[in-house]
Amino acid sequence: MPFRPRYTGLIENYRDRLPVSDDTRLISLGEGNTPLLKLENIPGLIGKNVDLYIKYEGLNPTGSFKDRGMTMAVTKAVEAGSKAIICASTGNTSAAAAAYAARAGITAFVLIPDGKIALGKLAQAMMHGATVIQIKGNFDEGMQLVKDVAKEAPVTIVNSINPYRLQGQKTAAFEIVEELGEAPDYHCLPVGNAGNITAHWIGYSEYACKAGDKVTESCAYCDGDCKFAKGVVGSKRPKMVGYQAAGSAPFMRGGMVDDPETVATAIRIGHPQSWEKAWIVKEESGGWFDECTDDAILAAQKLLAEKEGIFCEPASAASLAGALNDIATGKIPEGSTVVCTLTGHGLKDPDVAIQQSTAPMVTVDATLGAVREAILNNMAK
Ligand code: F0G
Repeated sequence: MPFRPRYTGLIENYRDRLPVSDDTRLISLGEGNTPLLKLENIPGLIGKNVDLYIKYEGLNPTGSFKDRGMTMAVTKAVEAGSKAIICASTGNTSAAAAAYAARAGITAFVLIPDGKIALGKLAQAMMHGATVIQIKGNFDEGMQLVKDVAKEAPVTIVNSINPYRLQGQKTAAFEIVEELGEAPDYHCLPVGNAGNITAHWIGYSEYACKAGDKVTESCAYCDGDCKFAKGVVGSKRPKMVGYQAAGSAPFMRGGMVDDPETVATAIRIGHPQSWEKAWIVKEESGGWFDECTDDAILAAQKLLAEKEGIFCEPASAASLAGALNDIATGKIPEGSTVVCTLTGHGLKDPDVAIQQSTAPMVTVDATLGAVREAILNNMAK
């Protein structure tokens, strides 16, 4: 007999809160159940008294939060008899789609912007056997092409316009509430298509609302008679705060951006697919959008790696970069409980990490003397 039940993924874990039946074949890689780490060094460094938590979504099976949505989207695609899935992607969705399609034994087509996705993500899509279609255009153009081609070809779209994606991703909010005992005061996320911020709001709302309530307009199931609304905790929900890269910040510009640019390639998106929903989330939650420069994003990525031992990809660091700024100005007041989602693992983008690293690296002869000297020279650093 096992000492404790084997964790078999988020659909199994939240079966009663997700649109699956007893007969549904679950396509899972054990996603979800990611660590909620309390930052121990950074709050002291910035001299602010905040409980700052990191939801480390980079520890999902393919290294990003996309696995939460993909387990649901691929499970439902297979249930419906689909033999092929398709997505446009800045990299992480394509990695997840490729892996879950492999697990399910179906075909994956992924459209990616030529030369603009991080190397680790490309390696994943190729290794899992997806057909990689590199387009000479950006994510937004790829997304339009996917929508157009899906009208003609027998393929299921697994971008976050597929409502099952948000259903899977809402479970991150469940996990946070369960571990903290209530919702945090603020939840900060990087925003690209704005699917994830919307999914989290659905999750928090479902845990807060009781059957018969209608607490959010953003939830497809919130018709006032939601079978997933169980009112698990009190009615508290967090203020949702979305941070964009300054060169790709349609929510700050108040309209679509045609030539998005940022070092955080995962969120190099100018035409967010969940535009209306995300505005509803902001309004309902009393949160806000803001933007971070590429320099601020990279500085936060490095700070987290050097001071806390947590490695995330650049886009993920936008959540911390933005939160640190809002904590510094007092917009997020001292005494608050703040959760920042780190959406993807740092190993996804080794190029940017190595380029900006300033850690001492020396090459020496393979002798005891040379190694001893290298250690003594760098001891104080
Ligand atoms: N962080 C990372 C690491 C991402 O890969 C993405 C989106 C986001 C944040 C933004 O999430 O779109 O729900 O607001 N990546 C998509 C992709 C676009 O194709 O992998 P969002």
